Amino acid sequence: MQAVAENIGFDVMAVRKQFPVLTRMVKGKPLVYFDNAATAQKPQAVIDALDNYYKLHNANIHRGIHSLAEEATAAYEATRDTVQHFINAPQREEIIFTRGVTESINLVAYTWGRTNLKAGDEIIISGMEHHSNIVPWQLIAEMTGAVLKVIPVTENGELEMEVFYTLLSTKTKLVAIVHASNSLGTINPVKEIIVAAHAKGAVVLVDGAQSTVHLDIDVQDLDCDFFAISSHKVYGPTGTGVLYGKTVLLEAMPPFMGGGEMIKDVSFEKTTWNDLPYKFEAGTPNIADTVAFKAAIDFVNSVGKIAALNYENDLLQYATNQLEQIDGLRIVGKAKHKVSVASFVIEGVHPQDIGILLDNQGVAVRTGHHCTQPLMHRLGLPGTIRASFAMYNTKEEIDVLIAALTKAIKLLR
Ligand code: ALA
Repeated sequence: MQAVAENIGFDVMAVRKQFPVLTRMVKGKPLVYFDNAATAQKPQAVIDALDNYYKLHNANIHRGIHSLAEEATAAYEATRDTVQHFINAPQREEIIFTRGVTESINLVAYTWGRTNLKAGDEIIISGMEHHSNIVPWQLIAEMTGAVLKVIPVTENGELEMEVFYTLLSTKTKLVAIVHASNSLGTINPVKEIIVAAHAKGAVVLVDGAQSTVHLDIDVQDLDCDFFAISSHKVYGPTGTGVLYGKTVLLEAMPPFMGGGEMIKDVSFEKTTWNDLPYKFEAGTPNIADTVAFKAAIDFVNSVGKIAALNYENDLLQYATNQLEQIDGLRIVGKAKHKVSVASFVIEGVHPQDIGILLDNQGVAVRTGHHCTQPLMHRLGLPGTIRASFAMYNTKEEIDVLIAALTKAIKLLR
């Protein structure tokens, strides 16, 4: 496959070489991996970091005085510094390691939410949220008597911002909003939302599950109060991620889970909490994966986010143009600003049947509701077929998708 993006000089082959899985065959065909919004593949550097950690440095952290414990602690804490710079957080203590976005949102719901919300307070989310940014707020609303309000979504897959402004009031205590939609790719105007929410005294949580891998994230520029990240969508390991929170909020929040590490002093009469960030990192954390997450961020930085984004935008444009040529195919989600996600439906065929037939051609896509059932209900769809592109994908692979789709449609119609 010879594919150097001609217009922007992005050396995709140099990037591809770093991902061992991309050379494998599936059902006798070269793998075309377009399920990057579900999880991204891992570069060799991440695999090596995991391997190296277990081969040479495995120990528990923050506890031991022996050499391995010190090395493991240093490697784990180095990831915190790397994440801090990656998202431009003012302080390293504001980087809390979690299992990923779902846990980060639940942490905020069960600590900040339970402490700060009361009957009649309002939480604003949007109609394009992933279930992980809906269900925790429903649970907390039930516990506290707070009320959930939802920003509607247009047919194009954009937020109805004029409705957001009518929902926003001094009753609003929290706005929890997805930065980029996993189902449609829509990039939401989070900065505008944050400014407006702050003017009413509300705090804002941004779900960065899909945006962190594509967009330059600067939490100081955004001025968000919380930002949630999953490592595995940023070419890192599964099972680790980040909650960024402003110090003033994190300091005031009670702990999420109790156990070792999160305490300063324990007695049966009174237990006191550890300092940030450890107050929120109870128990032995996912050390190895967190250590290897640094290698993923180093990889992204080595390619350059802007170069990768330009290349991915080019892929999205190419894919959208090609897909639109297919008879009966409709792109779902036509927002003006999108990350590289192409969601679509095809008249007369079920997304799942297409998914299976594409897999037979070595092409991996996701089909279904993508954990955004309310959005699918709004759009009147049972689900979509979603091809989501990473910086290692190529136009040639998109051509394979188009050929495989054409073949699948012929078989199904
Ligand atoms: N949230 C992930 C996706 O969109 C799993 O596929």
